[in-house]
Amino acid sequence: MLKLDHIRKTFGSYNAVDDLSLEIKQGEIFALLGPSGCGKSTTLRQIAGLDQPDSGDILLKDKPLFSSSKNIFVPAQKRNMGMVFQSYAIWPHLTVFETVAYPLRLRRWANADIDAAVRAIIKQVGLEGMEDRASPTLSGGQQQRVALARALVYKPDVLLLDEPFSNLDVKLREQMRVELKILQRRVGVSVVLVTHDQSEALSLADRLAVMNAGKIEQIGRPIELYDEPATPFVRDFIGQTTKFATHITNVASNGDASIEIGDRKFPLVGTASSFIRRQAGENVVACIRPERIAVASAAQGHGGNELEGIVETMLFLGDRYECLVQIGGQAILAYVPSSEKLSEGQRVPLAFPKEALTLWPN
Ligand SMILES: Nc1ncnc2c1ncn2[C@@H]1O[C@H](COP(=O)(O)OP(=O)(O)OP(=O)(O)O)[C@@H](O)[C@H]1O
Ligand SMILES: [Mg+2]
Repeated sequence: MLKLDHIRKTFGSYNAVDDLSLEIKQGEIFALLGPSGCGKSTTLRQIAGLDQPDSGDILLKDKPLFSSSKNIFVPAQKRNMGMVFQSYAIWPHLTVFETVAYPLRLRRWANADIDAAVRAIIKQVGLEGMEDRASPTLSGGQQQRVALARALVYKPDVLLLDEPFSNLDVKLREQMRVELKILQRRVGVSVVLVTHDQSEALSLADRLAVMNAGKIEQIGRPIELYDEPATPFVRDFIGQTTKFATHITNVASNGDASIEIGDRKFPLVGTASSFIRRQAGENVVACIRPERIAVASAAQGHGGNELEGIVETMLFLGDRYECLVQIGGQAILAYVPSSEKLSEGQRVPLAFPKEALTLWPN
């Protein structure tokens, strides 16, 4: 429903958004995820119409909002998009009711319609009974709900969220995530969410784009980006990865490649094998997610991919330990269920299931 086609935005000689194309589907939560300065907010501002790209096209339901070639620019107030930013931008002198009603008064709705629409959305965001409160007397989470209600009250085609919860404490942020997802499913609005917080993007988004230096590295469902990162940047940005710089010692006729870690040789199948021509002698980086490393009692029966390590440190996280385990001169991160009885300094069996090991170009 919303399409960005070869969008470019420069500040001086700096490419803040560099030939970016993506499509957002009706009713989905789409996240733009990336490190600080990668161009997320700039992209969102082009969608909102707060800023003009240098070139490219932006289409909403096949109608151009921006086109450099056709010289079209639809200003922000005509785009029917709701926006919530990190700073709530709640006006201190207005009540909750009047804050939410404001966009409707701008649009010159009839009073009875305003009353009905405002009360309905205030109820949906869970602020019933607070209509007459002055906004500064609300908590941070409540203020953010007011901002959401104000952005949704006129039934926008798209809701644009730029780091909407980053001012809230951790507990409240997690609660607001759940509430946003429930609300979005109920209202059915399409959402573009900008965040640098991977757990926010992974938990909320139906699909997401990982951005780096003004470009998109990969677009997909959260599980796809996590399990099948297309680039080293995505692999390292999302989740934890243990990496071994190594080389291929042997390639079997079935395509399995062997590598050496420490003084052992591991038979491997690299799921990222398309990245490299696998040949004996080639330098590669072997990667595995910490939760895929089988530790202690889980480490049996992995067809030769077992070895022994020494537990260096253990961090207790309630449901599991995050362990650093020494093998062959390298400390690797592994997760161990807290039901396993391990202690620091202990020798422990480990296994690297071969389907969980991926090979990347060095
Ligand atoms: N108006 C501007 N003038 C000059 N440079 C700008 C302007 N707006 C953004 N930039 C630059 O463009 C780059 C992208 O900025 P942007 O705000 O889009 O990053 P971001 O991904 O949202 O980062 P953050 O997570 O820190 O909010 C940055 O290097 C920034 O300094
Ligand atoms: Mg930003």
